[in-house]
Amino acid sequence: MTAEYKVHGDVAVITLNNPPVNGLGYATRLGITEGLAKAQADAAVKAVVITGAGKAFSGGADIKEFGTPKALAEPNLLSVILAVEACNKPVVAAIHTVCMGGGLELALGCHYRVAAPGTNVALPEVKLGLIPGAGGTQRLPRVLGVETALNMIVSGEPVKSELLASLPGQKLFDKMAASAESVVEEAVAFAKDVAGKGELPLVRNLPCKHPQGDAYFQFAKNMVGGMSKNFPAPLKCVDAVQAATKMKFDDGMAEERRIFTALMFTPESSALRHIFMAERAASKIPDVPEDTPKREIKSVGVIGAGTMGGGISMNFLNAGIPVKILEMKQDALDRGIGIIKKNYEAQVKKGKLKQDKYDQRMSLLSTTLSYDELKDCDLIIEAVFEELGVKEQVFKKLDEVAKQGAILASNTSTLDVDKIAAFTKRPQDVVGMHFFSPANVMKLLEVVRGAKTGKDVLATVMAIGKKIKKTAVVSGVCDGFIGNRMIEQYSRQAGFLLDEGATPQQVDKAIEKFGFAMGPFRMGDLAGNDIGWAIRKRRAVERADMKYSRTADKLCELGRFGQKTGAGWYDYQAGKRDAIPSDLVNKMIEDHRKELGITPRKISDEEIVQRLVFALVNEGAHILEDGIASKAGDIDMVYLTGYGFPIWRGGPMHYASQVGLYNVAATMRRFALNPRDDADFWQPAPLLAKLAAEGKSFS
Ligand code: NAI
Repeated sequence: MTAEYKVHGDVAVITLNNPPVNGLGYATRLGITEGLAKAQADAAVKAVVITGAGKAFSGGADIKEFGTPKALAEPNLLSVILAVEACNKPVVAAIHTVCMGGGLELALGCHYRVAAPGTNVALPEVKLGLIPGAGGTQRLPRVLGVETALNMIVSGEPVKSELLASLPGQKLFDKMAASAESVVEEAVAFAKDVAGKGELPLVRNLPCKHPQGDAYFQFAKNMVGGMSKNFPAPLKCVDAVQAATKMKFDDGMAEERRIFTALMFTPESSALRHIFMAERAASKIPDVPEDTPKREIKSVGVIGAGTMGGGISMNFLNAGIPVKILEMKQDALDRGIGIIKKNYEAQVKKGKLKQDKYDQRMSLLSTTLSYDELKDCDLIIEAVFEELGVKEQVFKKLDEVAKQGAILASNTSTLDVDKIAAFTKRPQDVVGMHFFSPANVMKLLEVVRGAKTGKDVLATVMAIGKKIKKTAVVSGVCDGFIGNRMIEQYSRQAGFLLDEGATPQQVDKAIEKFGFAMGPFRMGDLAGNDIGWAIRKRRAVERADMKYSRTADKLCELGRFGQKTGAGWYDYQAGKRDAIPSDLVNKMIEDHRKELGITPRKISDEEIVQRLVFALVNEGAHILEDGIASKAGDIDMVYLTGYGFPIWRGGPMHYASQVGLYNVAATMRRFALNPRDDADFWQPAPLLAKLAAEGKSFS
């Protein structure tokens, strides 16, 4: 049983005990109803207190039960709340620390609520593409007023209990306790006081109105609709709260249930729930137990103060960890530090960073030209030029100076981490930490696990990733790791589409309409087309079988590297980033088609999206087969946090599962008839073919 029952004098205390946040799983729910039944049967008990053990009153639904029959098994949360309301002795919620989702709905069903200051109070269901489903939309407006309740329900953000308690006319809390430590004791005293004193108050009986009525709700819908494009749940929150103001309580509850159930089946909610789980699962590595000892990281060294080194350093400074940057020459150091300062000063100017915080961060930053000064660092991250020879020099030097047990990381985006590790006599301490540009902004961190990387090193790097607020995903060693290995296939398809008849603008528009932040050609212009050019030149030697459209090379031969040269796939006006379709480029593409003897055909936006996205999916399936990623959710996290894949579609692998792998494989086989592509580009990866044939999904 995950709810304890104890009697203190004439008050029964039911304590939810389902760590970490007293999720309202089946056993906990059963514990509450059984406790209530006992209390009612015991003539010596005059009142009941419900509280939570440890660090929460309750965080709501039990995520371990998500999507399982147990989540809905009776007593479900609605039944538990009805049992609380129906109790003929006063039931007092003793709320502290965390009171969210179903936990808040349970508290709202109680006759009285005593809360500790500092409690985070929220209805966060909207973040999973849902609305509260156990009366939250009907009861919260009755105790906090329509506007405050609606703001909380639409945003899902936590609000502190003391702030809510200070709102005029609020009926959420009957009493504020002195502290979380004393809340149960104070709730017991409160329960004794109210026991036997007439009719028990129920939130459902309170009135629910907004003075402006429908006009207010129209305003709310305009605001919320504008801010929640692609996500249906926020607008439905408004509908549900409006129902609370227009319908009888029980009819409002039925309306809430109807909306909740409909949202449960939307692709957006499915995607958001998938992301919620995938994000948590990403930090778990199958063969690295959670209790693996971690090394202590108190100071960080960064080698190279270029584009990446500066951004990487900022992450650690922001987390309060001292950083020492090493460069070859003083002027490179000065330039790098200058950019870090400029970035922080811009934040101070915008009011996003307080001056004292800025000063504190800069005081944690030091520089050096000498490797000896890195000897005390616990973690050293290399971000020098992308050449194996340069990495060799750096890692040999690090092997000489770094203290025993220091973690040696490389930010390489294309080189073999095992080769880099072999430059040292301590390959177990070497790992890839692949940040994305700009490294102080982008959430993704690919943690590249070498063949000999120690488990404790991996566990430490995953933990430090969390500390610097990144989404850390483990990748095995291969060309491009997870993200860039997949994007390569996507880019190849983008090129083939040009050869066959599409323009860069048509391709970009189609995939941006699908939801990508930026299409492949605008992206190329932003990142620099010369980067891909260099990779293709290398590939021409290493992977001569890999076919590409020649259009991108031709573009680079014209010196059109993108925004930095004022021209790429698009034209750019000086100082502006707007992509203007280029007649010159379009003519270059047409001439190229003529050279190949291709008659251009009209390509639908649907085909463009399918070819780009399924190219990602198929490579993702290969990556799973090869063991480069340990689960499909990891691949989705990479694409959502590092490549601008639309959140509401849940990542490429989840999206493919939603479309149905059978359909994905069938479409790919149809594309395979296209004579322009590599003969085997569209052969479904064996894993994809197998899952499709078995009617299964990637999850
Ligand atoms: P960058 O050219 O901006 O900076 C490299 C810096 O390293 C320069 O300041 C240079 O003076 C310094 N440096 C070179 N050799 C050195 C040595 N032996 N000792 C000390 N300092 C040395 O290059 P960027 O873009 O910062 O790239 C660095 C690494 O990060 C590369 O491995 C790259 O592949 C990787 N990377 C780059 C990304 C990007 O978008 N720029 C994204 C992810 C990874």
